[in-house]
Amino acid sequence: MSLHITDAEFADFQDFVYQHAGISMHEGKKALICARLGRRLQHYQLHSYAQYFALIQSPEAVAERQVCIDLLTTNETYFFREPRHFEWLTQLLRGLPPSDQTLRVWSAASSSGEEPYSLAMTLAEHCRQPWQVVGSDISQRMLERARLGHYSMMRTRNIAPAFLKRYCLRGTGSQEGTLLIRKELRERVEFIQINLNQTLPPLGQFDIIFLRNVMIYFDTPTKQAVIDRLVQQLRPGGHLCIGHSESLNDLQHKLQLQAPSIFRKPLKTWT
Ligand SMILES: C[S@@+](CC[C@H](N)C(=O)[O-])C[C@H]1O[C@@H](n2cnc3c(N)ncnc32)[C@H](O)[C@@H]1O
Repeated sequence: MSLHITDAEFADFQDFVYQHAGISMHEGKKALICARLGRRLQHYQLHSYAQYFALIQSPEAVAERQVCIDLLTTNETYFFREPRHFEWLTQLLRGLPPSDQTLRVWSAASSSGEEPYSLAMTLAEHCRQPWQVVGSDISQRMLERARLGHYSMMRTRNIAPAFLKRYCLRGTGSQEGTLLIRKELRERVEFIQINLNQTLPPLGQFDIIFLRNVMIYFDTPTKQAVIDRLVQQLRPGGHLCIGHSESLNDLQHKLQLQAPSIFRKPLKTWT
């Protein structure tokens, strides 16, 4: 049984996660928050959420603040989610002439890694130039999982049999029921911690950015700031894919709509 959270306590966590991650947590999340943070209260043998909030306020509590952020994020994801984006990518790659230039793709809220590995499989299969995938997330726990590339077989339904054969290893014995992304593919995906709600580290420019199913947690000013930051990282002519249930309608930007949820940064016409 988790402890009752008061309105004032909930407001403190709402404010904390908004200030740090840009995540707007509505009232409906109360039960979820109680369940998730309740485990930390038990861990520290605390008797109220206010005590836990005081704990994460301490300047030394860097690691616990990260644990708290990890617990307040929603990380649902799966391989080849919203398959139309991968069909679009396949067509795009098939149409590109061979080149020596590295094609750079960024999965900007990569959660436990299913999205960047789906991108890597698609690139390994169809890209006729060197390529690189960067996966990033605010959650340290999700990044650790993503780097392992080790998943339950139950989560791999959407991976085509040919891809399973080429890019994954099936566990046997003690690993029965699990799947490991092959080392050669894992090594081509770099995972880094990035908070999209803060100034970005130096990342260079990308040809394609996947920013999917994260803007749903942001309010309009946060979405605007995140889109401004990401568009800066997009090469002229590069593409941005957002989740099918998301939109850029209420935002200012110069991107061109190419297909539902796929945008293109215009090529430079003036220098
Ligand atoms: C629902 S998952 C989406 C995963 C994947 N893009 C997909 O569509 O399946 C949302 C992810 O966004 C991350 N996230 C939330 N706020 C963030 C922020 N400010 N910066 C970076 N990542 C954030 C969460 O940790 C979570 O892993």
